[in-house]
Amino acid sequence: MKKRVEKEDKLKDYLTGFIRYYPDSMITVSELGEILSWNKVAEKLTGLDLEEKKGTDVSDLFSDPLQIKDFLIEIQGRKELKHREATIINKNSERIPITISFTRLDSKEKGLPRILITFRDTSELMEVKKRLLETERLSAMGTIAGCVAHEIRNPLNSLFLNTDLLEDEIRRLVKDFTPKLEHRLGIIRKEIDRLNDIVDDYLSLSKLSATDLTLTDVNRLIKDSLDSLNKLIYSKKIKIDEKFTKGMPEVSVDYEQMRRAIINIIKNSVQALPEQGYLRLTTLFNEDHVGIEIYDKGEGIPEEEMLNLFTPFYSSKRGGTGLGLYLTREIINVHNGLIEIDSEERKWTKVNIFLPVEEVVL
Ligand SMILES: Nc1ncnc2c1ncn2[C@@H]1O[C@H](COP(=O)(O)OP(=O)(O)OP(=O)(O)O)[C@@H](O)[C@H]1O
Ligand SMILES: [Mg+2]
Repeated sequence: MKKRVEKEDKLKDYLTGFIRYYPDSMITVSELGEILSWNKVAEKLTGLDLEEKKGTDVSDLFSDPLQIKDFLIEIQGRKELKHREATIINKNSERIPITISFTRLDSKEKGLPRILITFRDTSELMEVKKRLLETERLSAMGTIAGCVAHEIRNPLNSLFLNTDLLEDEIRRLVKDFTPKLEHRLGIIRKEIDRLNDIVDDYLSLSKLSATDLTLTDVNRLIKDSLDSLNKLIYSKKIKIDEKFTKGMPEVSVDYEQMRRAIINIIKNSVQALPEQGYLRLTTLFNEDHVGIEIYDKGEGIPEEEMLNLFTPFYSSKRGGTGLGLYLTREIINVHNGLIEIDSEERKWTKVNIFLPVEEVVL
């Protein structure tokens, strides 16, 4: 007899220990739903001193007691009830989403637990689910934005062409073609240019994963990029100092993407420069990398703004989109390269790009 009691005590100790340290929250309740025991995890999750709650109705721990009461009724007729969603309220009245399961225990004796309730905090899981949904939503929006950008391009080209035709027409009809008219047409063209830039930025963003690598001479890439900015450089009479190193190794890049990146940087410099300002373009290389430096003696960047430069839509300019540097860094990252910006306010800005010489695997 003594032996049997000892054995039962040992089993009880073992089970109590098991429940207490089980990694999910556990509460045992009577047939009526009165709290009988619980484990450490349940105590930690709720933050409650469950000793005080002993004998009270377990459903009061939840945000919807009626839901829990229903579960307790349902479990009477079956062995278990699994993975239901519920919300528990902790000591600080915060609502914690959980998944909850009920198991009917076969103890018939009075005072022994009848139902085992286990639950697990799912707030992190919910957060991940929410983020996943957000990412999917953003990606869908990105795809749509890409399509819209693409569709806008044709009408923009047509607008540009028709503006030229309109100008010819007006010149023919109106004898004294006033500067005012010319100014207005100029504004239309500038705005069309701006829209084109935005569309290009969007399209390059959506195309970033589909890189088309070709072996490229960086010096030629920079010259090409300068060509695209000819009008702007010429109108501001910018002095360009080209310090191109001969015999540069070729790098494996998506030519169009990289050209876009260089244009964005040079354009920022030209915009920051006064009339007749100084711009220096340098290319260098070592065994591993090809380096490009774009240095301007322009307005520079205030120290507190340095951290924002790569943030999408951050711009200090009127009419700036603030996508230029963000996009540039994305492009350089895709090529396993590096971009660094250094500046002294009201004096100069220096942008360095490093691209790996060995062929990158994308
Ligand atoms: N060379 C530079 N000199 C001074 N400020 C610069 C220079 N390059 C970048 N900046 C600062 O960084 C900001 C962000 O540049 P970014 O190219 O991303 O956007 P943006 O030029 O304002 O607009 P856009 O999208 O049309 O390029 C600029 O608004 C400017 O304040
Ligand atoms: Mg820019």
